Amino acid sequence: MEKLTGLNKLKTAVFISGTGSNFKNLIKFSKIKTTPISINLVISNTHKAKGLKYADQIKIKKRIFNFKDIEDTEKKILILLKREKINFVCLAGFMKMLSRNFIKQFDGKIINIHPSLLPKYKGLNTHRRAILNKDKFAGCTVHYVTEKLDSGKIIMQKKIKITAKDNARSLAKKILAQEHKLYPAAIMKIFN
Ligand code: GRF
Repeated sequence: MEKLTGLNKLKTAVFISGTGSNFKNLIKFSKIKTTPISINLVISNTHKAKGLKYADQIKIKKRIFNFKDIEDTEKKILILLKREKINFVCLAGFMKMLSRNFIKQFDGKIINIHPSLLPKYKGLNTHRRAILNKDKFAGCTVHYVTEKLDSGKIIMQKKIKITAKDNARSLAKKILAQEHKLYPAAIMKIFN
């Protein structure tokens, strides 16, 4: 993709459902002059997402959709994204699946971060599964989003060692710290 800096940064929406530490980290990253994205909108499927508080603090536009009627919700989101001239989407702890039709509208422009070394451990409880399986390594992956869960083309991965002392909680903490490095690095990779 073309190199984007300064004024022609790609207008980006971040989709969240929870704490929003990746969202917060992406905001920090987007403020760097040479980064290719600006974050203009945050979308959540729940009012309870803690990350929304941060959006309020820094006065970024936020919208909440309950996803009860997925088709209707996606239609509304697409209208909003168009209106806000959003052309890149980062999923960051977003717990809803997007349909093939939605993804088609943003072909190759929706990416996600997942806390495992994909294709291993798609879905939930990745850290617990890695510990239970006595894996030696774990990690995180940034990948393009397709309609199949955690299955799109991999952009970047970071692998870390699981130590004898690790449990699911400590592993999650270690991996999250790596996610905060990996997500910006993967975005840089896409646009450089
Ligand atoms: C991260 O581990 C991310 O990989 C996963 O959900 C978690 C979200 O964390 N999909 P946060 O909301 O960004 O703090």
